[in-house]
Amino acid sequence: DKPWTVPALREAKQEGRKLVMLTCYDAGFARTLDSAGIDLVLVGDSLGMVVQGCDSTLPVTVEDIAYHTACVARGLSQALLVSDLPFAADADPQRALDASVALLQAGAGMVKLEGAGHKLEVIRYLVEREIPVCAHLGLTPQSVLRLGGFKVQGRDEAAAAHLREQAREVEAAGASLLVLECVPTAVAAAITADLSIPTIGIGAGPECDGQVLVLHDMLGLDSGHRRPRFVKDFLAEGGSVAGACLAYADAVREGRFPDAAHSYA
Ligand code: KIV
Ligand code: NA
Repeated sequence: DKPWTVPALREAKQEGRKLVMLTCYDAGFARTLDSAGIDLVLVGDSLGMVVQGCDSTLPVTVEDIAYHTACVARGLSQALLVSDLPFAADADPQRALDASVALLQAGAGMVKLEGAGHKLEVIRYLVEREIPVCAHLGLTPQSVLRLGGFKVQGRDEAAAAHLREQAREVEAAGASLLVLECVPTAVAAAITADLSIPTIGIGAGPECDGQVLVLHDMLGLDSGHRRPRFVKDFLAEGGSVAGACLAYADAVREGRFPDAAHSYA
């Protein structure tokens, strides 16, 4: 197998091959995920919650993400490494560029940022400077104070239309991938059909071009937070960490995960 590249992601969508993504925060797990054929590995700012024990992703810094990116990068040989721009690191284009350079120099192949609106300018600024960008819409955990909690987004017709418009905008701004979090299945399906870049769902139904889960969640660890509907424990069926990764990858590629019980109607 060849290492993943950014152009290969769009080809996978065109050929109808599902993309399998997991979060990861260290080299040991990275080696296991890579060997199991996980396509995309995300150093998410979820590390604030699952590694650092915080109540939200807001305390995570660029230095934190860069440290974990360097650890994970040493464990990968095939997977494409995506790293989150943490809270406010993407507040303006120059700040986002400085943070992205640090993450790429630590080993990331792409950076991810939340939202549209004024973030469209940030996406364009990074892409024009040769930094691949993954967008993230729907439930954006860095918006937790405004949202008042972690809630499903795009439920009514107006909110769904707005989300669809934002998805078109991030693609037009140059994003190479789009994570959709906690979005009703039909809305995520419509967005997936609208775009030529792949969509990666988490709580966004089976019709996205790929899926992502937080590693700790899919290994059944108790996060100390309420377990969202879309989480499935693959360690139970996989029998080992490597087995859980293989079971998850197979279930995504065969369209068995997520099912209705792990999606929002
Ligand atoms: O930080 C993270 O783990 C994420 C995924 C849930 C998409 O952004
Ligand atoms: Na994140």
